[in-house]
Amino acid sequence: MTAQAENFFLNYLERTGDRKLFKMHHYLGVYHDLIGHRRGENVRFLEIGIYKGGSMPMWQEFWGDDSQLTWLDIDPKCKDLELPGTTVEIGDQANWDFMLRVAKTHGPFDIIIDDGGHGMYQQRISFDALWPYLNNGGLYIIEDTHTSYWPGFGGGYKAPKSFMEYCKSLIDQMHSWYTDQDDIFPLSPWARQLGMISFYDSMIVIKKQHHDAPVSIASENGKMSASRAMLSVRDRKSIFDKAE
Ligand SMILES: C[S@@+](CC[C@H](N)C(=O)[O-])C[C@H]1O[C@@H](n2cnc3c(N)ncnc32)[C@H](O)[C@@H]1O
Repeated sequence: MTAQAENFFLNYLERTGDRKLFKMHHYLGVYHDLIGHRRGENVRFLEIGIYKGGSMPMWQEFWGDDSQLTWLDIDPKCKDLELPGTTVEIGDQANWDFMLRVAKTHGPFDIIIDDGGHGMYQQRISFDALWPYLNNGGLYIIEDTHTSYWPGFGGGYKAPKSFMEYCKSLIDQMHSWYTDQDDIFPLSPWARQLGMISFYDSMIVIKKQHHDAPVSIASENGKMSASRAMLSVRDRKSIFDKAE
């Protein structure tokens, strides 16, 4: 069997019905690599953005029967696309109160996909509102992040308010355990929550992973020792010494 034949998402393209599905082709490879092995798992799933509803049967077929699948869209017509066993909420992803209501009603989620309006403000409000409602180990996936380079969407090359720049700053927060410049780069609470930030072409995946300060291990003759010496930067004692 070829790798392509094993890819549920690529295979699904041959089974689509009259609901048009809109994705960039390479996303299907990313989804395969990222979660292809999780087919049939029961999850709480939220996707922002429905349009013709093409992704709904695909995700319904992919996830387990006891999953809780929720979609939201600003277009009231999308309510008609609700499939049995799924929920469609109508509202604006840039409306904080609406997003919190959706999160409290249907979350916490294991998988969140933002394929909505793709504006910087929309992506950021949704992320800020939903992040606390992402389960430990959960994935927050933002599609079409090339809009970060489009001024018409609030982005632009290195535009300070672009979602791309925001995610780049999260990379720093994730590494703030290792700070040697506390005055300008203090330990961030994000360091305890971020497990992975993956940048694909036009797609960003952020994994929530609660964890304490990283530990280095050494193993010799079958005996392992662990230390946080890595976090004792140069001459100063590690702020985590007490935790050892
Ligand atoms: C790219 S389409 C979604 C495609 C769908 N996820 C799929 O895979 O086939 C984007 C959708 O986002 C919706 N949208 C745009 N702005 C929005 C907003 N502020 N809040 C919620 N949904 C929005 C649009 O109405 C449209 O249906």
